[in-house]
This record gives sequence, C-alpha cells and structure tokens, in this order.
Amino acid sequence: MAFNVAVLGTGRIGGSYLKVVQNAGHNVRAVAEPREEQVAPLKKSHPDVEFVADYKEALKRKDIDIVVLTLPHWLHHRAAIDALNAGKHVFVEKPMALNTEECDEMIAAAKKSGRLLLVAHTQRYFTPVKKMKEIVDSKELGEVVMVHDIWHKVLAPETRPKWMLDGTRGGGMGQMDGSHMIDRLLWILGSDVSSVSARVGNFTHPQIPADDTAMCFLRWKHGPVATISRIAFDHGKGFTEYGADYFFTKGQAKFRIAYGRGPTQKDGVWIAKNDEWVEVPTSKTDSLVDEFKDFAKAVESGAKQPPIPMAHGRQVIEVLEATEESSRTGREVILGA
Ligand SMILES: NC(=O)c1ccc[n+]([C@@H]2O[C@H](COP(=O)([O-])OP(=O)(O)OC[C@H]3O[C@@H](n4cnc5c(N)ncnc54)[C@H](O)[C@@H]3O)[C@@H](O)[C@H]2O)c1
Repeated sequence: MAFNVAVLGTGRIGGSYLKVVQNAGHNVRAVAEPREEQVAPLKKSHPDVEFVADYKEALKRKDIDIVVLTLPHWLHHRAAIDALNAGKHVFVEKPMALNTEECDEMIAAAKKSGRLLLVAHTQRYFTPVKKMKEIVDSKELGEVVMVHDIWHKVLAPETRPKWMLDGTRGGGMGQMDGSHMIDRLLWILGSDVSSVSARVGNFTHPQIPADDTAMCFLRWKHGPVATISRIAFDHGKGFTEYGADYFFTKGQAKFRIAYGRGPTQKDGVWIAKNDEWVEVPTSKTDSLVDEFKDFAKAVESGAKQPPIPMAHGRQVIEVLEATEESSRTGREVILGA
C-alpha cells in the first residue's frame, strides 16, 4: 500500500526525504518550509507536490497519512502533538524532544490518537551498527565487558542554522550527535542502563552557548560499562572518527562509520581474531529508506508500537539529561532511583 506523506521542514536533511519516501514506494503530497530559497529547486523538480510555508498548513490536508518531521529540535514536541491530534502517523527525526516531560506528552498524544509515533534513530539501520549488534547478540566473542563509543568531528558554526548553536533550543552536539551514540549503545547493550556520570561543556567553541564536548561513563545493571567520547573541533577533518570499540570476554570488535571521516579511515566492521584484525563483510544499504519502509509497514499492519519503541526515544533523552545533570553536580546520576 502506498501512503500519502507530508515532509515538514526541508533543511539540511528534510529535502532528502522527498527521494527517501519515493524510493520506499510512497508519495510525497505536501512539503512545509518557510524559506523560499530552500524550496525553490524542489518546486521545480516536484511540480505535483503542494508547498506551504508552515507545518500547520500541511496538517490540514485530509489525504495525508504520514508526516516526516524534520524540524528544529525545539519544534519536535509541538509539531508531533499537532500532527498526532490531526490524525497523522508521525516519523520524527531524532532526538525525540528537548526533555523527558515533552517526550511523555508526545507519548500520551500518540496513545490518545491511536496513531504511531516513531523517533527516527537511523543509525540502527547503518550496516556497521547492525553488524555489531549481531556480533554482540551471537556471543561469538563472549560477553561484552566494556565499550568506547566515539564521535570526534569538525564543527563549522557558520554552516549551521542558528538554533543549532543555542542550547536552549535543542542546539549543541549532545542533542545532535550524543543522541545517536546513546541510541546505539542502548540498542546494542540493552535498556537496563543504571547510572551515568559525565563532563559536558563548550570547550572547543567557548563563544557558542551550546555543548561541543562530552566524556560520559555509563553502567548497565547486567554488567557492561561504556564511555561516550565526543568532541567537535573547529578544524581537523583529517582526524575525525566515528564508531565504537567493543571489548568482550573473548576478544574485541570495532565499527567505523564513513561520513565526515578523515582519509585514513574506512567504513566497516572488524573482529580481532588469531592475533590480527579481520574485516567482517557487510553489504551497503540505504538506511533512511529501510527505516521509512519499516515504519510504513508498521502503519499498514496496524501495529500497536512503531519499529523503534517510543519508550526508547524517551530513554535516550533521559540518559542525555542525566549526562547534563552529572556534569552540573559533579556526581554520578542513578537512573530509575
Ligand atoms: N539522522 C541523521 O543523520 C540526521 C542528520 C541531520 C539532521 N537530523 C535531524 O533532522 C532534524 C532537522 O535537522 P536539520 O539539520 O535538517 O535542521 P535545519 O534547521 O537545517 O532544518 C529545519 C527546517 O525546518 C524549517 N522550519 C522551521 N520552522 C518551520 C515551520 N513552522 N514549518 C515548516 N518548516 C519549518 C526551517 O526553515 C529549516 O529549513 C533534526 O531533528 C536533526 O537532529 C538527522
């Protein structure tokens, strides 16, 4: 079944959803975006799509089944609730919202409306991340003892929208990148994370009121521990690094992700076997298309939960909040206490 879709916001990522939805076998009928310069080329290439300036206009259309919400973080909560109340299924880009109170209200709105709300934590559709989950689940290297999850990158403030440089509006690299790192750790290691300590701050861009750096330490009830190490420099494309090192009772595995990486790195997954690193074969997929297809299938089948549970999206924000609290207080934060 082909669904009618509205894309809300066409900034750095929103525009790509026109192709994603089409490649997943569905139809974009409306696009909401106030910046004319942003939509001018899309209007030319998509003459059959209605373009409106504000997301609320798109929600008035009765024929829209699903909205893809790629708005600034501070609008996720309001726009998702508006869309659910308008009877639409919602595919909202990560992170779910600014705080857990907003997440709770979004979950309540989804339950009340009987519509699905998916927080698009796309990285679990990345081949290297998927493969690492398979390695962990297979126990071929034994039990996970500890993990280093890393995201060392370049942040050029002049290329970012203003809200992304304002911590009060969901800006900063915690919401932007930290949410991906927490997502993949919770997905691979499990949701029973029990405590968090962290140092978070704007050390590399002190002039910007939003975080660019964090070192976090997470414990899981069933044993493993993990660090999250992220830093956004104002230079250094050559030494960017995205990925994770997993240490098991019987060996090691690591994955690296390609985008924004330096020339010395390679996308992929490696296992330490017989005293050397062996690359694990992986196939290339389109993560956004796979994710949208999964969501549409859940909508079509009348599933009660989206493929990524709403509680997971909320837990990512809960852990993110705990990193900030720990950094502020200098203490370990016990979750679920
Ligand atoms: N999964 C990924 O790899 C990935 C990558 C980039 C961004 N994202 C996520 O996508 C979302 C958007 O990020 P971005 O970088 O594209 O931000 P952006 O600021 O570039 O895009 C947001 C767009 O929304 C538009 N907008 C603002 N108010 C609106 C309104 N009332 N109605 C309609 N449109 C409105 C803005 O004009 C802008 O073009 C965020 O949640 C971000 O975290 C995900």
